Amino acid sequence: MLTDKYPRVELSHTPTPLESLENLSKKLDGPRIWVKRDDCTGLAMGGNKVRQLEYYIGDAISKGADTLLTTGAVQSNHVRLTIAAARKLGLEVEVQLEKRVDGRQQEYYDSGNPFLMKLMGAKIHYYPVGEDEEGADSALFERADEIRKAGGKPYVIPLSGNNHVPYGSLGYVRCAEELLLQFQQRSLKIDGIVLPTGSATTHAGVLSGLRALGCNIPVYGFCVRRDQEAQSQRVLAKATEVAEMIGCPGVVTKNDVWTDDRMLRPGYGQLNDDLLEALRLNATCEGLLLDPTYTGKAMAGLIHLITSGHFNRNQNVVFLHTGGTPTLFGYPELLQGMFGDTQTQATLLAS
Ligand SMILES: Cc1ncc(COP(=O)(O)O)c(C=O)c1O
Repeated sequence: MLTDKYPRVELSHTPTPLESLENLSKKLDGPRIWVKRDDCTGLAMGGNKVRQLEYYIGDAISKGADTLLTTGAVQSNHVRLTIAAARKLGLEVEVQLEKRVDGRQQEYYDSGNPFLMKLMGAKIHYYPVGEDEEGADSALFERADEIRKAGGKPYVIPLSGNNHVPYGSLGYVRCAEELLLQFQQRSLKIDGIVLPTGSATTHAGVLSGLRALGCNIPVYGFCVRRDQEAQSQRVLAKATEVAEMIGCPGVVTKNDVWTDDRMLRPGYGQLNDDLLEALRLNATCEGLLLDPTYTGKAMAGLIHLITSGHFNRNQNVVFLHTGGTPTLFGYPELLQGMFGDTQTQATLLAS
C-alpha cells in the first residue's frame, strides 16, 4: 500500500459499499450512477473526515500527543468527528467553532453537528470571524501553547494548507486503492469520479492515489467554499505534496485538476435551487440523504454534467458521498424549499 509507512489509527468501517443508484440513473436518462458510501464510515454518524483523522491522529499519537485541537464551522463534520475520535481513543480534545455562515436560524447553532458535539461533552471555544483561516489557526496554536505550558501535549489539526502536512489526504489515497479494487471486482470501467472539494484534502488524496496507481479516471471537484481558480491552486498544491509523500513525485499535473464553482452560490453553507433539487431527487428516488453544504452541491454538479450531456448512457460515474447528513437538522427551512407547502400540509394532515 502507498501509505504503509505512515502511522494510522483504525477508526473507520472500510471498505465502504459501492452501490448502484438505479432509479436516479433512469430518471436522469444518462450514465449509470454509482455511489461510494463514505457517509457510512462508522464513527459517530460517519463521513469523509473519519478516513482523514486516521492519519492525523496516527501522527499525533506517534508524537506523544494527549490532546487534540481543531477548528471548523459551527456545523463542522470534521469537528464532530475529531471529538468522537478523541473520545474513542481516550485523548483530550478542545475545539473551536467559527461563525462562517450568516443569516441562519437558531437550529443551525443548536441542532445537527453542534448538538452532537455537546452530546460528546466537547470543550468548545468560539472564533468570531468566518473567513480567516490563518487567524483561526493562530488562535488554536495560542491555545495549544497554553496547554503545553500547563504540562499537556497538544496536537493541532489546522485549517490552512500553509500550516500543516496533509496527512489526512493519505486516508483518501487509501480510498482510491479501495475503489480501484471494487471496480476490478465488478469489471467496471469508470468514466468519472465526482466529489465535493473544500479543504481539498479528499480531492488531493483521491487524485494522487489514482494517478500513483496509474489510473487516469477524471476527478470532478465541485467547489463548496471558494471559487474554482483558488480551489484548483489549492488542490494542485496539496496533491503535489501528497504525491511526494507517497513516493510518486510529479504524478499529478495541472491538467489533472478539474474544479467547478457553479453550485457554490451564494456561498459556503448557503442554499440554492439546484442544491435543493439534488437533495429532493436523491431522497425521494433513492432514500439517499445528502447534506446542504457539501454533498448536495456536488450532486447538483453531477446532475448538471449529466443533463448537459457531458456523460452518455453507456458510461459509469461514481459519486463520492462524503457524509455530512447531521447538518440536515440545522436547516429546518429545507423542507419548504424542497417541497413548497405540500410537505407542511402532509404533516398537518397526519397530526
Ligand atoms: C461532509 C463533507 N463533505 C466534504 C467535505 C470537503 O472535504 P475536504 O475538506 O476534504 O475537501 C467536508 C469538509 O468539511 C465535509 O464535512
